[in-house]
Amino acid sequence: MLTVVSELRPLQLLSYLTVILLFQLTDAKRDLKSACLTCQQITENFNKGFERTAKQNFGGGNTAWEERKLSKYETSEIRLVEIVEGLCDSSSFECNHMVEEHEEHFETWWFKRKTKHPDLHKWFCVETIKVCCPKGTFGRDCSSCVGGSERPCHGNGECDGDGTRGGNGKCSCNHGYTGEFCLDCIEGHFSEARNDTFSLCTECHSSCKTCTGATNRDCEECKEGWEETDQEACVDVNECSGDPPPCKEDQYCLNTDGSYSCKACDKVCSGCTGPGADQCQSCAGGYHESEGTCKDVDECSQPDPVCTEEHQKCINTHGSYMCVCTGGYEEKDGKCVQTVPEEKDSEASEATSDPHGEL
Ligand SMILES: *[C@@H]1O[C@H](CO)[C@@H](O)[C@H](O)[C@H]1NC(C)=O
Repeated sequence: MLTVVSELRPLQLLSYLTVILLFQLTDAKRDLKSACLTCQQITENFNKGFERTAKQNFGGGNTAWEERKLSKYETSEIRLVEIVEGLCDSSSFECNHMVEEHEEHFETWWFKRKTKHPDLHKWFCVETIKVCCPKGTFGRDCSSCVGGSERPCHGNGECDGDGTRGGNGKCSCNHGYTGEFCLDCIEGHFSEARNDTFSLCTECHSSCKTCTGATNRDCEECKEGWEETDQEACVDVNECSGDPPPCKEDQYCLNTDGSYSCKACDKVCSGCTGPGADQCQSCAGGYHESEGTCKDVDECSQPDPVCTEEHQKCINTHGSYMCVCTGGYEEKDGKCVQTVPEEKDSEASEATSDPHGEL
């Protein structure tokens, strides 16, 4: 038993270490990308600060003496300090840390390298602190992206880690493109032009599943809901003329490109061919056909009265009618009987409604 345990322990420890190491590796890779982004932000802010301070001087008037001073301010340490102070948000730890760590580089560049190396991003981020790479390259040694550094991914995708010391240089292709080099077209797209370094994929007509060109005559296979005609084009299937009809009895069918939908008939219809009261196949109960549409039947003005009890009157409603008792009568067991006046307890009602009652 003891030997088994002591054999297991180093193995477990090893697997823990591997997991930790893997985490650190992926973390480090992400860090390499984000370090470059931070550096890029710093140099962008430097350029903004440079512009912002372009019209400043040491402060004060505009005398000839001040003019001479102004030309000095342009290249002064004071101006550099003002720019460096605005490089980071106070909340950005990564940015402030990078600026603090490399502060002397800004001075070197400002006083000694600016003229020869005017591109601060290139000098600082790429060449000096080496957290970025030139565009189109990636990784520790700034290797070329897949497809070459001139046009990474042949212009049809994004190179992982492009311009940073991180990433793996592989392509994630734009919509419509696929393959390691983003030169192939995805299904539903066709190749409009292609050679070893260039590819243009265009979307097929909406009727095609696959195609060789842009129109519905260029389909290799029709999409679902479309069918090939004698003229070898894909056209919409009219599902609404199918047998049996695809919709329920109280619905009408609406054909659409590649599909169809079922919509509810107007409530005055019993079956219909479209929306509205004038497209009924026949009228629903309580409605009658008149001038091409279905109208409410006024049951109350029919020759034979429909409310036959004594003291009853008829009220017409949409699609139906009601029998109610006339004034002074109320319904009881299907008959209208005289309303008994409610007995009023005048004393009690006075007591509860008297606003000046005792408090
Ligand atoms: C590939 O095609 C593109 C666009 O038509 C063209 O600019 C390029 O020179 C071509 N390259 C080759 C190697 O033929």
